Amino acid sequence: MPPPLIGQERYRPLYHYTPLRNFMNDPNGLLFYKGEYHLFHQYNPHGNTWGHMGWNHAVSRDLVHWEHLPVALEEEKGVMIFSGSAVADTKNTSGFGTWQHHPLVAIYTGHRTADEMQSQCLAYSLDRGRTWKKYSLNPVIAWEADFRDPKVFWHAPTETWIMVVAKAAEKRLRFYGSPNLVDWTLLSEFGSSGVPDDQKSNWECPDLFSLPIENEPGTQKWVLHVGMGSGHPMGGSGGEYFIGEFDGTTFHNDNPSDKILWADGGKDNYASVSWSGRTGAEGERYWIGWMSNWQYANTVPTTPWRNVLTLPRVLSLRRTPEGLRLIQKPVPQLKTLRASAHTCRNILFSPTKPLVLSPSTWGSALEIEVIFEVRAATEVGISVRGGDNEETLIGYDVINSQLFVDRTHSGESDFHPDFATRHSTTMKADPTWIKLHLFVDTSSVEVFGNDGETVLSELIFPNPESQKVSLFAKGGEARLVKLTLWKLNPATKPNPLLSY
Ligand code: FRU
Repeated sequence: MPPPLIGQERYRPLYHYTPLRNFMNDPNGLLFYKGEYHLFHQYNPHGNTWGHMGWNHAVSRDLVHWEHLPVALEEEKGVMIFSGSAVADTKNTSGFGTWQHHPLVAIYTGHRTADEMQSQCLAYSLDRGRTWKKYSLNPVIAWEADFRDPKVFWHAPTETWIMVVAKAAEKRLRFYGSPNLVDWTLLSEFGSSGVPDDQKSNWECPDLFSLPIENEPGTQKWVLHVGMGSGHPMGGSGGEYFIGEFDGTTFHNDNPSDKILWADGGKDNYASVSWSGRTGAEGERYWIGWMSNWQYANTVPTTPWRNVLTLPRVLSLRRTPEGLRLIQKPVPQLKTLRASAHTCRNILFSPTKPLVLSPSTWGSALEIEVIFEVRAATEVGISVRGGDNEETLIGYDVINSQLFVDRTHSGESDFHPDFATRHSTTMKADPTWIKLHLFVDTSSVEVFGNDGETVLSELIFPNPESQKVSLFAKGGEARLVKLTLWKLNPATKPNPLLSY
């Protein structure tokens, strides 16, 4: 039998970004420029496991439909292209373009395979990102061990380019400043994450940006986000964030240094970074993460590509009784994928009387908004991708105030011993009303609890036929206040011209 067409393979997501073929990790160089969202990502052009890393490229006008472009930056002379960022140099401070024809500049880590040393390098494009030229005097910050993932932005008050970059194994970040992207001066350092040293490995892929506080017009705070190579409460890699002030030189953490804030309670969200430039219509900040975990990123059962990105999300901060917290919501552009809608309300269900939704609502590409009233239940939730002996549970544990995804019976899982587990994180909900917004795709679920306050991103590998949706309660009766379910149209169309 010939292999399936690209877009029709088992587990190929229907509306999440995946490369057509080969291995992907971190999103890189996210940039909004002249109506296009650029997405680059770590990519092996030669195979379906990590290696020969460079930057693959795609563009989108709506963050939902992606056009695949040729690889932008490739390994050369024993130097791989590791993670980094990109900016529009609209004042031509770098001199790579002209005042009228300003350059896009990528700032990436060069990784020398022979001795594993790393340095910060530049490449630029004068044709809206279609072709890239490496700067002839690279590197712009010299070779060191474990020194990577520069994120650069323009800091208007000081009229300076700021770079935050990781000293990965030391678990520290450095801030540099530059007038022109070429000459960099060390400004300050930041370290200490609260995660005990023996539980965390490298710090990677930092990002620094300011965000508005919900319902407090005119206020903002700075967020510093860092990937922890290991030490996530659910095992493996995950992202931690700090909230505070950035004065143009130094980041000041508002919380004690042992306060840990994880951006995602699920097991599969790493190396999230935000788009640079003005992104949303109101200047909102969007970001996207790599929906995988270094524990099994090289073994997830997909071919001819490996790994997928999260949905793009819009960010803000919310004042909660526990303090300021990062809020993530799916970008509103995703609503354009909604096909048929189905609503039901005010139905009681219980351990002996689960509520199976009508088969006309079942599917593998779904968006669901649901509100439960807990009543006597100790656990309440929704089962998706149900089939013969498999289902994925998304629910709330009322007694322990935990939002969870249970993928112990979600489908294929033998590629890693830690995959088929239940993952949970605290959600301080109104104890009687549980509000969830979830997205189901061919090989993932993403849950946004309490209007984006608590998020879990998780891979699953169910049988394509497993599409059933039902509601469950444990310990007593619960009430479905309201559920709206949309079947989602695919954003990635199979391309008959592309095969292997
Ligand atoms: C994070 C990371 C980065 C590095 C890249 C290499 O997942 O380890 O620190 O730049 O992947 O592919």
